[in-house]
Amino acid sequence: MDIRLDYTNMLAETVGDRGVRREELASLKPRVESIHRELMERRRAGALPFYDLPFAAAEVDGVCALSEELAGRFESVVVLGIGGSALGTSALMRALRPLYHNLLPRERRGGRPRLFVLDNVDPVGVAETLDLLDPAGTVFLVISKSGSTVETMCQFMIARRWVEAAIGGGWRDHFVLITDPATGALRRLAELEGFRSCEVPPGVGGRFSVFTAVGLLPLAAAGIDIRTVLAGAAAMAEHVTSPELEENPAYLNAALQYLCYLKGLHISVMMPYSDRLRDVADWYRQMWAESLGKKRSLAGETVHVGPTPVKALGTTDQHSQVQLYMEGPFDKVVTFLVPDDYGRALEIPPFPEAPGLAYLEGRTLAELIRSEQQSTAVALTRNGRPNCTLSMSAVTPRCVGALIYLLEVQTLFAGHLFGVDPLDQPGVEEGKEFTYALMGRPGYEAKLAEFERWNGGVRHRLG
Ligand code: PA5
Repeated sequence: MDIRLDYTNMLAETVGDRGVRREELASLKPRVESIHRELMERRRAGALPFYDLPFAAAEVDGVCALSEELAGRFESVVVLGIGGSALGTSALMRALRPLYHNLLPRERRGGRPRLFVLDNVDPVGVAETLDLLDPAGTVFLVISKSGSTVETMCQFMIARRWVEAAIGGGWRDHFVLITDPATGALRRLAELEGFRSCEVPPGVGGRFSVFTAVGLLPLAAAGIDIRTVLAGAAAMAEHVTSPELEENPAYLNAALQYLCYLKGLHISVMMPYSDRLRDVADWYRQMWAESLGKKRSLAGETVHVGPTPVKALGTTDQHSQVQLYMEGPFDKVVTFLVPDDYGRALEIPPFPEAPGLAYLEGRTLAELIRSEQQSTAVALTRNGRPNCTLSMSAVTPRCVGALIYLLEVQTLFAGHLFGVDPLDQPGVEEGKEFTYALMGRPGYEAKLAEFERWNGGVRHRLG
């Protein structure tokens, strides 16, 4: 197996009172079995299609063909999307291409285009990205499952005008729409205006969609071996569909996190010790927050439940966050993400003028970062702070595919342990509706009045 979960430091026998007792894990087994049965039934009934994405070879052929065409024609690919339409792409791009891919000359990028992910509507971010690009050499992937997300639609409107103003007719060829196969404004545009398009399969929610064209098309265009990513996910599928808690790392880690939450450890930190894996923590933060943070339980009761995910980076955050994790409130559980092999070691050379540093000579940065991770884990453990380590042999397409799939199933399963629906996100709707009202969307007049009522408050002028 390419991925390993070491949960020794989550256990009370290692970490003390705040850890999980083996009896507690054992007592969850009947629930684990019943949730497993329910999930597998829903999967068989077609209600959880994300499970089967790693096996959708025909769709992948189509994505690969289109990605080759785009890579051959364009210098830059720009993803317009937000949330689940962007975070998976950013995470895998960072993990699997050179960290500074976009700064390299084309031949050092393997002849592949640059890839930008525009997942905000800060005018500075959008404008400064466009300033970098040549309209004639840029293709935009407009990604929205619903086909209506206001941020993505505004980016699309701006990008369309920008390309059209520069090249005139033919601007449509600079856009590919990735959206629901049947509904939404993007799908209608694709049908009426003849844009090229790809489908987000029905039933696959945004944050579970990285293994559809949402993630696969931009990643393949940028030169990532998506077939091997999917093969890694498929290999992981065998493990995370086992009904046995001890044999299923997704269920086991979900159960450990859930039991820690019940003990008051309400903050779940993911801390990769790897620049490449940094944005996996960002992707996972959305998975955990949007899937588990809920007001209502599946039974309809008001529960206001959900662990707060925090992303950190080793070793950087040892000099920022770790003081708090070590000595602050007992409210955190830390998951380290660590590659065994960093791919490069970088030997530390002698520095004859500094004898005090001689002990470092001949060691490597790989040894240093590994030692720091192990030291942080042991120090947390000594301080009674539960922590676990997800290790992978190396940051390869196969391992990263496996890791993402593991974390998707872990999130789904955790939702059911917490007794909430991990696939919806009703809490973001109200903010969206107020935004529509403020931006003048017809039909939202009552919402605007409501906004005005709630937007009272005292305003202080500072300076
Ligand atoms: O996970 C989710 O469902 C959300 O984060 C969505 O991906 C996000 O809101 C963007 O939605 P859409 O893809 O419909 O534009």
